Amino acid sequence: MEKEVVLILDLGSQYTQLIAKSIRRLGVYSEILPYNVSIEKITELNPGAIILSGSPFSVNGSDAPFPDRAILEQGIPILGICYGMQLLSFWFDGVVSRSTRKEYGKSLLNADVHNPLFQGLNEVETVWMSHGDSLSQLPEHFKAIAQSDNSPYAAIHHKERPVYGLQFHPEVTHTPNGMKILANFLRISGFSCDWSASSFVQSSIEEIRNMIEGGKVLLALSGGVDSSVTAALLDRAIGDRLIAVFVDTGLLRKNEAEEVQQAFRDYGSFELITIDARDDFFRALEGISDPEEKRKAIGKTFIEVFEREAEKHQDINYLAQGTLYPDVIESVSFKGPSATIKSHHNVGGLPEKMKLKIIEPLKELFKDEVRVVGKELGLPDHILQRHPFPGPGLAVRIPGEVSPDKVRILQEIDAIYIEELRENDLYHKVWQAFVVLLPVRSVGVMGDERTYDYACSLRAVCSDDGMTADWAELPVPFLRRVANRIINEVTGVNRVLYDISSKPPATIEWE
Ligand code: XMP
Repeated sequence: MEKEVVLILDLGSQYTQLIAKSIRRLGVYSEILPYNVSIEKITELNPGAIILSGSPFSVNGSDAPFPDRAILEQGIPILGICYGMQLLSFWFDGVVSRSTRKEYGKSLLNADVHNPLFQGLNEVETVWMSHGDSLSQLPEHFKAIAQSDNSPYAAIHHKERPVYGLQFHPEVTHTPNGMKILANFLRISGFSCDWSASSFVQSSIEEIRNMIEGGKVLLALSGGVDSSVTAALLDRAIGDRLIAVFVDTGLLRKNEAEEVQQAFRDYGSFELITIDARDDFFRALEGISDPEEKRKAIGKTFIEVFEREAEKHQDINYLAQGTLYPDVIESVSFKGPSATIKSHHNVGGLPEKMKLKIIEPLKELFKDEVRVVGKELGLPDHILQRHPFPGPGLAVRIPGEVSPDKVRILQEIDAIYIEELRENDLYHKVWQAFVVLLPVRSVGVMGDERTYDYACSLRAVCSDDGMTADWAELPVPFLRRVANRIINEVTGVNRVLYDISSKPPATIEWE
């Protein structure tokens, strides 16, 4: 059976990924491509519908992004959102002009509920607007199917074709019935909406089996969500032809190495190799205090350790990586393609050197989908729902030079903080929480004794994707309790701070 796809042409909106996630949540696979993708590529993808995203540009501007107009000739249902609608209007000879008043925020929509796009909606709906331009004259062959206070053409529909435009954003939560509108559009376009984690698992297993001809697959298993789900999926597909390598860098959280091994010891039939490389990493970090140099030293050591292990196995043909969809989207930031590759996923020059082919079974998924797939594969929640953890580990949470002693102190403090967050039902309320051991010592008094010990800084942030973040307002009694426990239970620390910096201008990690 042909895979059903909605193509989202990215014209530069901050909400493009949200459109893709919304469509997937409705059970249809969606793919984002830059607006200027060739019509040949679109034909090859064979989408069942196209969504034109919003954009910060004006269709009347000299720098306006225009996709190939030939998409209109394919008979494919099209939904234009905000700039996407203005683009349709431009193509069909409507008039788009600068709004007298920019519309930003909530607005009331009077929708034609007899139109299939608005089936099941109320006659008056709250919607989210964010635009500077609007339609001042309907394009040819179109009719208006909704109005708002400021837009007589808040939604339009081609009289003969399944081509729609919305001035507002159905993909944001501020449009409470936006998902219904998108679901209606999918129904109008004839989708069966049957994409699910279990259908993904089934089709991926088949795909992996077809792709891997002979030999074994090597995977760097960190115990994070992405590499864990990759391991579980490959295990289902090829079982003992998977070799997962877990490197104990010595820079992990307290008990983490044991927990990861425990979680996978009895899972499936793949081979799990643990390498105790703590000495290698501490040696590589000796005398280095510059953040970038620390990261480089860790990356280099990781590759060396991994390579040493890989060389012991003759029959490996593939290297698996837990790359996710956001890592591969060629997003239109208008600052050039911004495809990012996470350093911990990318095991250096190994593939070329060992002539390995890369497989990335999760590269079509968003993080929340990976978690659902992991659940489907029977992975425990403590693996799937854990906070992100940086590849270079605790080394970037010890500003300045790293030593085994400092790591031990940080592991103890961090364990208390995380344990208290879990026990007080706060762990899942924040995006990420951790402690930084500061390279500062201060005077204190404990019992009758003067102390001269380290200070540490607790950090907890709220975020959607780690790109921006706000510090979390943890309850003061909670902070008091954590600080007391740390100072009483961990030798070497006599002062606890709470980091109230947001990103930007700070970053989440300290290095
Ligand atoms: P920053 O500090 O840049 O971090 O605001 C954003 C998010 O990325 C995580 N992070 C990393 N993750 N390898 C990773 O896998 C890394 O080298 C790395 N550095 C930062 C960080 O924990 C936060 O969630």
